[in-house]
Amino acid sequence: MSTDEQHLASGLRLVLLGAPASGKGTQGQRLSESLGIPKISTGDMLRAARDAGTELGKLADGIMAAGKLVPDDLVIRLVAERLRMPDARKGFILDGFPRTVAQAQALDEALQRHQLTMTAAICIDLPRDLLMERATLRRMDVQTGQIYHLKYNPPPVSAQLVHRDDDREETVRKRLDAYDTMTAPLLPYYQGQNILRRVDGMGTPEQVSARIDAVLQQLSAAPRARAAVSSPVQGGVSSPAGKGGTSSPVQGDLEGGADGD
Ligand code: AP5
Repeated sequence: MSTDEQHLASGLRLVLLGAPASGKGTQGQRLSESLGIPKISTGDMLRAARDAGTELGKLADGIMAAGKLVPDDLVIRLVAERLRMPDARKGFILDGFPRTVAQAQALDEALQRHQLTMTAAICIDLPRDLLMERATLRRMDVQTGQIYHLKYNPPPVSAQLVHRDDDREETVRKRLDAYDTMTAPLLPYYQGQNILRRVDGMGTPEQVSARIDAVLQQLSAAPRARAAVSSPVQGGVSSPAGKGGTSSPVQGDLEGGADGD
């Protein structure tokens, strides 16, 4: 990675948007490894809480299995705690959060208290029939956590596979509907900040990665122009507070948010 790219990485605050199974986790993991900043997935955190049997996990379990959204205030608190951890100081990739406008506003308000803004919101677009295929044929190896796809990325015979409850066809349909009603309004929200970029999610993971890399390169080339257009807080790709990497992005609680449904 060049010095410029490392500098960009040090301040990158990216949200990955897209319908269920559009490839956010796959791309987020790759970006996390190449940029050296954490991928923060609320879905993974909620599943971990469920598996650990915490109060949050017990509450979230039924909601997730029904294909609905966990209430905003619970998810906002979860993310606020995660963003206070030291590894988020140099930037982060959000996967599956925010998922409602209330969550996005809470995130922005928390960042603004530290003179920070989100760098970019990248939405991975994929037609509904392919989303359905990607979700229903997804499998995870419980031993390694590795995500596979029975058609596009077949697991080795040694893998111990689990099928997510909410990846069954009927529940995927409900999750797609929840995305259309609750999460799609985030696209105009981030468009209004001039940080929304849309990427075609068709093709191999490598092809999608190349499109995302191109978008990040464009943003790093013209951060000031972007920030000057309509961002609520001046700053952009590498705002001063983000460059130093010394202040936690969210030291106070993220506040507010209506309950999701
Ligand atoms: P979450 O875990 O966030 O689920 P999601 O958004 O529905 O996303 P997925 O994990 O299903 O898919 P993905 O886009 O990451 O795709 P992936 O890379 O795995 O949330 C689950 C639930 O938790 C929610 O329904 C909700 O109840 C709750 N929740 C979470 N966050 C919340 C929030 N903020 N507020 C309220 N509730 C919240 O790829 C999918 C498959 O395709 C894989 O098999 C992969 O191998 C394959 N694949 C990926 N890319 C390609 C490619 N280019 N070509 C071929 N195959 C590919």
